[in-house]
Amino acid sequence: MRILFLGDIVGKPGYTAVLQLAESIRKQERIDFLIVNAENASDGSGLMPRQFRRLLDAGVDGVTLGDHIFRRKDIIETLQKSDRIVKPANFPDAAAGRTWTLINREGLEPLAIVSLMGRVFMRPVDCPFDAIDRVLEEIGDQTTQVLVDVHAEATSDKQAIGRYLDGKVTAVLGTHTHVPTADATIFPGGTAFQCDVGMSGPYESIIGRDIRRVTQTTRTFEPCHFHVATKDVRLCGAIVESNDQGRAVSIERFEHRVAESS
Ligand SMILES: [Fe+2]
Ligand SMILES: [Fe+2]
Repeated sequence: MRILFLGDIVGKPGYTAVLQLAESIRKQERIDFLIVNAENASDGSGLMPRQFRRLLDAGVDGVTLGDHIFRRKDIIETLQKSDRIVKPANFPDAAAGRTWTLINREGLEPLAIVSLMGRVFMRPVDCPFDAIDRVLEEIGDQTTQVLVDVHAEATSDKQAIGRYLDGKVTAVLGTHTHVPTADATIFPGGTAFQCDVGMSGPYESIIGRDIRRVTQTTRTFEPCHFHVATKDVRLCGAIVESNDQGRAVSIERFEHRVAESS
């Protein structure tokens, strides 16, 4: 099966592009499952329930988040009720949301999706290795196809989790840095891996935000609101093709440049 995973949707430019292009990309790339990380969809931080519903209506099958999960607290009810969205599996048990979910599409082996947070230069969270062990135990033989979104800052953190999961899951794909890395590969055990698939948002920016404002605050330490940038919108991700055993047979970087409207 062919899985397209799109990295962090940033603000209206990224969100609108996904809504407009999801169906055509699905057809063009013969995608069976379209999974997106949407942690920055709502004006650059968080995800609103209305946006979540529209993503599903547009052809998205499942949604992961990250450190910005609760930036819009309206999403809590969605996390409690929907089986198309997950919280990071190494978040506290008491936090709203499921640690994994099974996405079903007719005639296909279901796809389990899991999100893990890294621990280097990130807020303190539970051990991602223990968390994924628990999740894989729960998934058991319900499916062979497992996609893990590893949401982390450090490439070493992501590689450690990727190597730990080699031969146990279909793909370990990175998010959070918003910058795609050139290391897409299949590990010896058959697990596809990429440190970061890149954001789906405006690339004429500093990780999705207005260049001038971020630079100004970085130089002066004076706070200001970082508007979401608008130009050079790209949808970035990875397409993983897997066999019946749930191991990857190919991984390719996906990048779709959205035509400027004006
Ligand atoms: Fe993040
Ligand atoms: Fe992000």
